[in-house]
Amino acid sequence: MLVLSALLAPACASSSPNGPSHAHAAGHRGDGEHGEGGHHDKGGHHGKHDHQGKHGHHGKHGHHGKPGDHKHEHGVAHDFSDAAEWSKRFDDPGRDAWQKPDEVVKHLAIQPGMTVVDLGAGTGYFGKRLSAAVGPKGKVIALDPEAGMVAFMRERFAKEGLTNAEARTCPLDGTGLEPGSVDRVIIVDTWHHISNREAYAKHLKALLRPGGSVMVVDFTLETEKGPPKEHRVGPDKAIADLWAGQMVARVIDETLPDQYIVVASDATR
Ligand SMILES: C[S@@+](CC[C@H](N)C(=O)[O-])C[C@H]1O[C@@H](n2cnc3c(N)ncnc32)[C@H](O)[C@@H]1O
Repeated sequence: MLVLSALLAPACASSSPNGPSHAHAAGHRGDGEHGEGGHHDKGGHHGKHDHQGKHGHHGKHGHHGKPGDHKHEHGVAHDFSDAAEWSKRFDDPGRDAWQKPDEVVKHLAIQPGMTVVDLGAGTGYFGKRLSAAVGPKGKVIALDPEAGMVAFMRERFAKEGLTNAEARTCPLDGTGLEPGSVDRVIIVDTWHHISNREAYAKHLKALLRPGGSVMVVDFTLETEKGPPKEHRVGPDKAIADLWAGQMVARVIDETLPDQYIVVASDATR
């Protein structure tokens, strides 16, 4: 399946997992979502400016040479169908050093028995940690619009013995889950793929149980790692999206070298 990202949510780096097939914007290494790059000091959360206003630079992305791959009127066709290939990047053993998955999951403040959604879960990198956090009475729902990713996760979770983790496909514009059924939503390196994020934020808010929260983890606008800078959603924009969905959102303190974490909750509950 081809994921179409709209103009308001420009696609992230669309280099093939087999290797970049195209050049990126000047200064970008062309190594995609989880590529290796130098670490820039984030310089404090207030220094993370948002460059959303500069989108529209869509040239040379989405050219994977795969069937159906094409530029869309409002954005970029993005192909995440080859899960095994993407796994080489998403599950690169070196990722833990900068992704700090234990710290990320700690910030979710998961209690045993909770229901946690991993939205845009990809190959299931966070699965085992989320599964351990919710415990045997809890549930992890790993959602991805790509059938290949979901199949990959099902096999992976079975191999890892994660009996409380379930991988499901989701539409591009929603989770397909019932309102009031979820305690935590984690969205890693995926928020910038979502079109109409303000409407999506409203949907997420409706999903939450009392005390529930949504976490967005994505690349800062400064770091050399990650998707092309003009395709990123910085923390200010992520916060604005979530506020537009009538949640209260804020950047939290963390030690991730290349990313920010925004946490949002329903202020009225
Ligand atoms: C860069 S990967 C991140 C995977 C995973 N979260 C991780 O950190 O390893 C982005 C994922 O988002 C998924 N995705 C793209 N558009 C989406 C949408 N509208 N809703 C949910 N997931 C989406 C893609 O299929 C892909 O698996």
